Amino acid sequence: MAQPSSTVPKAPQNDDYDLSKPINSTSGLRQGLTSYGDPHFSLFLRKVFIKALGYSEDALSRPIIGIINTYSALNPCHANVPQLIEAAKRGVHLRGGLAVDFPTISIAESFSSPTSMFLRNLMSMDTEEMIKAQPLDACIMIGGCDKTVPAQLMGGISANKPVLPLITGPMMPGSYRGKRLGACTDCRNNWASYRAGTIDMEDISMLNEELAPTGGTCGVMGTASTMACITAALGFMPLKGASAPAVSSARLRIAEETGANAVAVAAAKRRPQEMLSKESFLNAITVLQAIGGSTNAVVHLMAIINRHPDVQGQITLETFDEIGRKVPLLIDLKPSGDNYMTDFHNAGGMLGLLHVLRPLLHLQAITITGQTLGEVLDSSPFRTFQFSAEIIGPLTNPLHPNPSLVVLRGNLAPKGAVMKASASKDRRLLHHSGPAVVFKNSTDLALRLDDPNLPVTKDSVLVLQSIGPIGNPGMPEAGLIPIPRKLAAEGVTDMLRLSDGRMSGTAGGTIVLHISPESVVPSSVLGVVQDGDIITCDVDKRVLRLEVSEEEIQRRVSERKTAEAAGKGVWKQRKVKRGYRGLYERCVNQAEEGADFDFLTAAGLGEASP
Ligand code: FES
Repeated sequence: MAQPSSTVPKAPQNDDYDLSKPINSTSGLRQGLTSYGDPHFSLFLRKVFIKALGYSEDALSRPIIGIINTYSALNPCHANVPQLIEAAKRGVHLRGGLAVDFPTISIAESFSSPTSMFLRNLMSMDTEEMIKAQPLDACIMIGGCDKTVPAQLMGGISANKPVLPLITGPMMPGSYRGKRLGACTDCRNNWASYRAGTIDMEDISMLNEELAPTGGTCGVMGTASTMACITAALGFMPLKGASAPAVSSARLRIAEETGANAVAVAAAKRRPQEMLSKESFLNAITVLQAIGGSTNAVVHLMAIINRHPDVQGQITLETFDEIGRKVPLLIDLKPSGDNYMTDFHNAGGMLGLLHVLRPLLHLQAITITGQTLGEVLDSSPFRTFQFSAEIIGPLTNPLHPNPSLVVLRGNLAPKGAVMKASASKDRRLLHHSGPAVVFKNSTDLALRLDDPNLPVTKDSVLVLQSIGPIGNPGMPEAGLIPIPRKLAAEGVTDMLRLSDGRMSGTAGGTIVLHISPESVVPSSVLGVVQDGDIITCDVDKRVLRLEVSEEEIQRRVSERKTAEAAGKGVWKQRKVKRGYRGLYERCVNQAEEGADFDFLTAAGLGEASP
């Protein structure tokens, strides 16, 4: 029997469907409506579908906090992402927001071909477009492995909605025969020992089981940890978020705190382009030098900086070198020192470090909570204790008095090259001249490096061409050219090595990287170096020089340009390639600009022709 109309429960009145009122479309579910030509219908339809997931009107009226899910079964550095999402959601809900997670691509270093760097710009586009396209008031970006955090910062800054990075955190160290081990500095050191014949196949097989004993990012000051510290220095996250181990309860509490912060940041509409200033980036570079961070971070930071319309052009490679002259290496972590990220965390982590660096920092820089960096440090005092002093040295007694990362120039690198001088194993090589042994590309290197007849001595300079941004898309981390086996067997552990590629942040040696312009550019001097040419590297003078007359260099360059014009080089061929690889080779800029796509930088490509 029909009930009297007075007892029928009334549907809640909902202004969303009142056609006489415009939709307030700047926040929550109402923002960024799909275009059907009728905004009320767009919102009606959106609600129809999201209710299929069981959400109530109350839930849908809350600030919407996105959480980027980068879990992948092929990304062990992100193994804890499901737990981090759960904890971050708890933080959002405790503060009255609605947390929704969604996927973007996930990139793991050793599972990406040709390189993870090849995919960084793709991930940044995915991140930017998904943040922009979806109805989010703020977005937590969970990343960790080397290229993921830079990609998310690039994309987040370009999207310019409130974003909060949440790092997966470093793995724990392992142990073999009583010695601590950690990916990936010890992967490389032990592999070099195996190549030299000082450890055998049984050892190297056992080591393989122990080098990465838990999920999380590499446990040394490699690229992932460097980018985590830089993200904290930029003011984007709680300071302990840079170093808490991936498997620790502290990491989950940081995730919960990030969730809670996200609701406040959404309410304040604190967007990254407003929060970040030139001073924020100068602080990040100061930290990079003090931690002896990865050379990769120079490329990533330049790409991140060049996404910011107000900072682009104000910071160049020279800025890194200038700051390096004032900031010594303070942290005793591999690969420049001896310890692991867990030690850094237990020694006070970024809070301890920033208190030491305080006189060199721009304390007025704004952080994600709205406090200045100075206010953050004032409200979190830190008292040095014995262990912290062993890991984080004072400015008056640094681990290495000279700059960690230096920028070299000269006829061989007119647009710059980068070296992590603090990771040199044979410091006489920081001032060295020697004859070049040139490898045309990675294939040539693999074929000839261990040839017993290769004319190479410990004083030779190993040169690897064609591993720059375009020459070998993604600039592979092949800049750490192995010591030729015959020299390794004689006990040679370091040589001066040059390339236009990158090197893992976990690696060490006297290695010049990111030489620009890269060798496949027709006018590149690196591209015309020949066997036997004398090369000089003088770190004190910041010089990298090919000791060949200018006339001879120009003769070789013009010969090469003629060959290129005949269509024999990659320079011309890249214009007709299909797919993402074609896009990459046509649009990637050089290392000193960040190896970003030219059309993604804040300046873009300028005025389009009509
Ligand atoms: Fe992912 Fe090192 S491989 S952080």
